[in-house]
Amino acid sequence: MPGGKLITFEGIEGSGKTSHLGRLSCYLAETGVRHIVTREPGGTQFGQEIRAVLLNSSGASRHPYSELLLYLADRVQDLNEVIRPALESGNHVLCDRYHDATRAYQGFARGIPSGLIDTLAKKLQILTPDLTLVFEVDIPQGLERARHRNLQKGQETQGRFEKEDLDFHRRVQQGYRFIAELEPKRFRFVNTSGEFDQAQTQVREIVRSFLEG
Ligand code: TYD
Repeated sequence: MPGGKLITFEGIEGSGKTSHLGRLSCYLAETGVRHIVTREPGGTQFGQEIRAVLLNSSGASRHPYSELLLYLADRVQDLNEVIRPALESGNHVLCDRYHDATRAYQGFARGIPSGLIDTLAKKLQILTPDLTLVFEVDIPQGLERARHRNLQKGQETQGRFEKEDLDFHRRVQQGYRFIAELEPKRFRFVNTSGEFDQAQTQVREIVRSFLEG
C-alpha cells in the first residue's frame, strides 16, 4: 500500500501559511483526500507543553542551543506519535512548520552552524518532507498581519519571535531561499502579498498536481 506524503508549510511571521493550510485542508477533505494536520511546535500533548515554554515571550532568556534542542524534542515527539503513524496508514500529513523552520530560524537567523543541525537531524531520523511550500510576504506586511492576528486573539501583540528586529526576519527569509536552492525539486514559493483567494488557488494547484504526479 502506498504511504502518505509529508507536505510542510513554511514562511516568516504573518506570511499566511496557517490560514492557507487550513483552507487547503478543508478543500482536500471535500474532495476525499485522506490527510491529517499537525503543527510544530505543539502537534502533540507533550509538544504543547514544549510550545508553551518556547513561545513564552516573557520567559527567561535562553541559549540558542537550548532553544534548538527544545524544537527538536517537539519534532521527535510529533514525528513518532503523529506523523509516522499517519504516513504509514496511508494518510498525507500537512505540517504547519517543520525542520526547515529550524534550519532558517535557529540556523540562519540565530547563527547555529548548519552542520550541527544536519547531524542532529540525521541522528534523530528526522524525515525529509516530500513537498514544502514557502509562503512569502514583505517583512513589514507580515509583521503587521501577525500583530493584528495576535490582537484579535487577545494575545500580546508581539510574540517571542515577532519581537526580533527586521534583520532577524530578513535572515529567516533569506535562509528559506537559500535552503530551497539546495533542493529545488522539493520547494514551491507562494507570494501572499495580494488577494488570499488567488494565493489559495495556487496552493491547491501545487498540491493537487504534486499528489497526482
Ligand atoms: P507560531 O505561533 O506557530 O507562529 P506562526 O503562526 O508564525 O507559525 O510560532 C512558532 C514560532 O516558532 C515561529 O515564530 C517560528 C518558530 N520556530 C522556530 O524558531 N524553529 C522551529 O523549528 C519551528 C518549528 C518554529
